[in-house]
Amino acid sequence: MVSLRPCLLFILLCIAMINLAHSNNDRKAYIVYMGDHPKGMDSTSIPSLHTVMAQEVLGGDYKPEAVLHSYKNFNAFVMKLTEEEAERMAEMDNVFSVFPNTKYHLHTTRSWDFIGFPQNVNRATTESDIIVGVLDTGIWPESESFSDRGFGPPPSKWKGSCHNFTCNNKIIGAKYYNILQNFTEDDMISPRDTNGHGSHCASTVAGNSVNSVSLFGLASGTSRGGVPSARIAVYKICWNKGCQVIDMLAAFDEAIDDGVDIISASLESPSIQHFPYFKSVFDVASFYAMRKGILTSQAAGNSGPSLYTMSYHAPWLLSVAATTFDRKIVTKVQLGNGVVYEGVSINTFDLEKKLYPLIYAGDVPNIAGGHNSSTSRYCIEDSLDADSVKGKIVLCERIHGTENVGFLSGAAGVIFGLIYPQDLPEAYALPELLITQWDQRLIHSYITSIRNATATIFKSEEINDGLIPFVPSFSSRGPNPITVNTLKPDITAPGVEVIAAWSPLNPLSSVKGDKRTIQYNVISGTSMACPHVTAAAVYIKSFYPNWTPAMIKSALMTTGNHFSN
Ligand SMILES: *[C@@H]1O[C@H](CO)[C@@H](O)[C@H](O)[C@H]1NC(C)=O
Ligand SMILES: *[C@@H]1O[C@H](CO)[C@@H](O)[C@H](O)[C@H]1NC(C)=O
Ligand SMILES: *[C@@H]1O[C@H](CO)[C@@H](O)[C@H](O)[C@H]1NC(C)=O
Ligand SMILES: *[C@@H]1O[C@H](CO)[C@@H](O)[C@H](O)[C@H]1NC(C)=O
Repeated sequence: MVSLRPCLLFILLCIAMINLAHSNNDRKAYIVYMGDHPKGMDSTSIPSLHTVMAQEVLGGDYKPEAVLHSYKNFNAFVMKLTEEEAERMAEMDNVFSVFPNTKYHLHTTRSWDFIGFPQNVNRATTESDIIVGVLDTGIWPESESFSDRGFGPPPSKWKGSCHNFTCNNKIIGAKYYNILQNFTEDDMISPRDTNGHGSHCASTVAGNSVNSVSLFGLASGTSRGGVPSARIAVYKICWNKGCQVIDMLAAFDEAIDDGVDIISASLESPSIQHFPYFKSVFDVASFYAMRKGILTSQAAGNSGPSLYTMSYHAPWLLSVAATTFDRKIVTKVQLGNGVVYEGVSINTFDLEKKLYPLIYAGDVPNIAGGHNSSTSRYCIEDSLDADSVKGKIVLCERIHGTENVGFLSGAAGVIFGLIYPQDLPEAYALPELLITQWDQRLIHSYITSIRNATATIFKSEEINDGLIPFVPSFSSRGPNPITVNTLKPDITAPGVEVIAAWSPLNPLSSVKGDKRTIQYNVISGTSMACPHVTAAAVYIKSFYPNWTPAMIKSALMTTGNHFSN
């Protein structure tokens, strides 16, 4: 989710969107935001106010179903408009802003101990009164992490409910949002998680302690959330086609009314934007939540390492950057001549040190398919001659990124040399690792220097990382372009190689046909850092239930600890 893959996808979508913009009859979804509710107006009459606005703009084209959704806590509604209609709407009295619907994407065991939060920390009994609203891909309710053994009934203030599956006393709310009803075949129309990301984030905040968890032996230990007694309310807004802003706003709207105490949102805007706070839906939504005493903890984004790579900078948000912690996962490749190179990936396959023929992708283009070495060297889809690749380890080049190559024509393994280094380890459908371009050149010269080059790829191993904590390159950087004297992001937390609950419907590499179904997965991103800080905020709130979001945020940001290894 948090790799470069979604970014590439997004560029394609952008191109598609630009093309659409030329055809004027195409109405697209917009959020019409009208500021605060009119004074004295009772909230049940708000939808009719929205209908009047829609009638005024559409005139003879108006149909009763034009207003797709009326929000309750925000004086705002969703309707489909042409660009010209959206401009007219924006000019109308009472209209504060008109936002086009856009898409977001998503972006352990050890991590809690590492930040000095051991399992036997003092806890307040009020921890179980706190409800965490998680806006994400949903949840896998049968996971051990979400069992309600030992839990009493939900706090009496709770007004939420569960759609499609029965709540327990741990998951006390689960709803889904898809206002445009735009599903794919693989989507499950339910708050159930088909991706894993949402279960991962929810269990990092408030999952139970589960012993003996590992990813095929990697990252083994006890998986636990920071506040295992807190309750979880799930708001599924992310689907196979991404997360729509209109759905995100609907989730905030209901979470506020349901009575959550804190919102955890590991979402990322698909392109970096620097809008003033009240021109940014996420900032507006979290502002209204803050006014109701609800703190929003948010992932800073995975668009680093350049400056100004965050999209949301509002001072009422708790924006979380990622750091490494002391456990690091590495993967090694050994050549037939005994030389070993270390790279990045999560490789659970064991080739048992067996040597396989090693070839350079530039030497085996799929000529019949119109390719030559200039494309096959990058292992672009279909660019390789399948017969030449089968059963061999293939050396490929890449500028950056790790587009998943699936099973690559039956190759035994893949080595990618990257021009820009990558510190975000991912799992693939076959033995694979990413190395530096320098090492890739050395391996290439080994291939050209010998008739029968061979290599083997080892199963990943854990090493103790001395350089800690360290902000990895992917974590989005500040400063804050909107309010220059307020720094962003606000805080860092572990976000690299975190193990937590997963959905068994999404295999380890996310590639169809990968048979490695998993209950727990090791993933990285500011998405993983955010729930750590959400949990820390809940922990503070459990001792000081009356503290405001600003007080909790201040306590977290102004309390330090001295690291000694
Ligand atoms: C979940 O409930 C909704 C509304 O009742 C229904 O339309 C949908 O099909 C259900 N989903 C599943 C997977 O059963
Ligand atoms: C559904 O999403 C696709 C791609 O994101 C888009 O092209 C299509 O227009 C959408 N359909 C509706 C009904 O919004
Ligand atoms: C590869 O093919 C492209 C066009 O398909 C051509 O422009 C290029 O010169 C070729 N490169 C080599 C090394 O043959
Ligand atoms: C190299 O490979 C060929 C067949 O691919 C084989 O006949 C030959 O024995 C191999 N040579 C060495 C030195 O392994």
